[in-house]
Amino acid sequence: MEERLLMVPGPTNLSKRVRDALAQPQVGHTDPDFVKDFSDTLQLARKVFRNNNGYQFVFTGTGTVGMEAAVAATAQPGDKVLVLNTGYFGQRMADINRCYGADVEELGSDFGFHADPDAVRKKLASGRFKALYVTHVDTGTTVCNPIAEIVREAKAAGVLAIVDGVCSVGGIELDFDRMGADLAFAGSQKALSAPPGAVLIAVSKDFLAQLEAKKDKIRTYYANLLRWKSVMDDPRTYFATPAVQLMQALHQALTEVKEEGLEKRWSRHRTNSKTIRDGIEGTKSKLVVEQGYRADTVTGVWTEAGAAPAIQKSLREHHGIDVARGLGDNNTKMLRVGHFGNLTEKQARFFVDSFDQALKSSR
Ligand SMILES: Cc1ncc(COP(=O)(O)O)c(C=O)c1O
Repeated sequence: MEERLLMVPGPTNLSKRVRDALAQPQVGHTDPDFVKDFSDTLQLARKVFRNNNGYQFVFTGTGTVGMEAAVAATAQPGDKVLVLNTGYFGQRMADINRCYGADVEELGSDFGFHADPDAVRKKLASGRFKALYVTHVDTGTTVCNPIAEIVREAKAAGVLAIVDGVCSVGGIELDFDRMGADLAFAGSQKALSAPPGAVLIAVSKDFLAQLEAKKDKIRTYYANLLRWKSVMDDPRTYFATPAVQLMQALHQALTEVKEEGLEKRWSRHRTNSKTIRDGIEGTKSKLVVEQGYRADTVTGVWTEAGAAPAIQKSLREHHGIDVARGLGDNNTKMLRVGHFGNLTEKQARFFVDSFDQALKSSR
């Protein structure tokens, strides 16, 4: 299959080293070389979260499994929880909480607007919430929430703070230790530039101790952090067979993140997102998200009504670039452009030129 420039909101293009890792001969998950690499993966995963003090999990499953693991560990039937619904994935977090029997309140934001920490503080003061769930970057709207401030409000109110970092970790600053969140999770396929299918979860020391003190309370089997803990403690332990090649690919991808340097990687994402946003605005197209809260990993842009499919098609057929459309009702009037992972400055500029041409040809 011909390789395209993947600018969908995940997955992203893989480096040659990562692709080579996928093509290695099959080994068993207790093979000493695999075990050694997996132990290293856990250490590298700590670094992308800045999780030096807490506990680190990595296992097979998409970002949604991370959402389930987070909810199963935090919400018991009847628990009152607050979900900041700033888009599609906030809504999913509320839905998963309802599946687990939680009494969910949602604090919504208008489409493309961020969750306001002052409103969060007031809401938290209005009831006895057990946990707060916030999406750092909601891939549906492309809004980037002020995560550190929101976590601060949750902790000040004595509420568990759970962060969905699927669309941010590795591309935008998220400092798990400093922020003081209880749990944050990421997916392999976005800013980390690994294939889809692995979830990375950071858990604070205090929250893990709380979980271990009430061992029987996680009402799920596969997404149960306490079951996975024995594998993280000793990767030779069996709980469920890991996707071995995927884990090897993730190991390479995280090694490349380390080689680039996390801060340099954030800075590259910042520069590329500015190039792309400026370029889009230069065509007089309107960005979806309010100024100041636009993500450095993905950008939403409004198109003329009904024009999104034609622009997407032109980008794909004439420029070799894949972008995504809006979700739900926005499917034909919004484009979502991913600019994370390994995207270079040159590719960001190439996108801008291509977008301009695709827009003109769609008119
Ligand atoms: C913010 C966010 N959370 C969760 C998910 C779910 O991840 P997955 O599709 O890997 O299950 C996504 C996927 O795009 C996402 O963007």
